[in-house]
Amino acid sequence: MRAIAPAAGSTIAIDCRLDGSAGSGLAEDVLDGLTRPFKELPPKHLYDERGCELFDQICELPEYYPTRTERGILERDAERIVAGSQAAELVELGSGTAAKTRVLLDAMADAGLLRRYVPFDVAESVVRDSAEVLAGAYPGLEVHGVVGDFERHLDRIPAPQAHGAQPRIVALLGGTIGNFPPGSRRRLLRQIGALLGPDDALLLGTDLVKDPAVIEAAYDDAAGVTAAFNLNLLRVVNRELDADFPLEGFAHVAFFDRRNEWIEMRLRALRPCSVLVRALDLRVEFAAGEELRTEISAKFTRARIAADYAAAGLTLAGWHSDAEGRYALSLARPSGGS
Ligand code: AVJ
Repeated sequence: MRAIAPAAGSTIAIDCRLDGSAGSGLAEDVLDGLTRPFKELPPKHLYDERGCELFDQICELPEYYPTRTERGILERDAERIVAGSQAAELVELGSGTAAKTRVLLDAMADAGLLRRYVPFDVAESVVRDSAEVLAGAYPGLEVHGVVGDFERHLDRIPAPQAHGAQPRIVALLGGTIGNFPPGSRRRLLRQIGALLGPDDALLLGTDLVKDPAVIEAAYDDAAGVTAAFNLNLLRVVNRELDADFPLEGFAHVAFFDRRNEWIEMRLRALRPCSVLVRALDLRVEFAAGEELRTEISAKFTRARIAADYAAAGLTLAGWHSDAEGRYALSLARPSGGS
């Protein structure tokens, strides 16, 4: 735990679980993922500094509707969500940019409830930046950031503050839950559920099933930003593991898998390609046309979300969607609680 200078009467503490790139598990993930019969790398490694910048650019694209749709829902309903939960604390998993967080924190502050913000992200710079910006913006706010991996470090999230029964909201926004395949998704929901007391709530952002053309355009934009975001993964591997992926030898692919109701991003080798990952002493061959999967992003229906919650010991307790039904914010509570 390292303390930084407080700003505007607020306090900041950052708890860093990761130790450089090794801590994110990149080496093991590359070793696993590139030796499989169907090559695959987990999407969390897309978010180095450049990847975070590119993702921020994606959020501004005309084709990429999820971010602005989610923000619109939050702007419309944050007051109601906060009034219903009486939360004094916001734990944000995958804290990302602070823009939509502020809508929630504003509503909590306006209700006179806001005490603590706990940003949790795999990218240390994201946690640090959002901690500093928000501690500056909300006098008296206690910020306790945690740098870690969702699937390994949720237990590092500080216990609820001991000032009596002050509920908290644990938010997983942006549709990030869609990056986990169905079994891992339920496991993660169950682990998040374990962080919830009977009066706490999970606030989950999910993209919804819709016309595949709309979804595919969102993941293959005309300006090529998503392609650059996807290809940046190869730069990450080149830099961190001393590999020699030729970036011009791979092309961005995005398609909606109708059966699984998720979009996939892949990188397709344009020609036969032999890659050396020196740090792993690993040689990887790509045939011409061979694809490496880099992300799935599941699209949901209300019924599927309710079923995932039920399987994870949670109960759907609130539903906030835009008028066109593109995106939903849902609230869940522990099934055993009242
Ligand atoms: C932030 C992970 C939810 O899946 O839509 C954007 C990432 N990938 N464009 C998503 C992403 C391609 C985004 N998530």
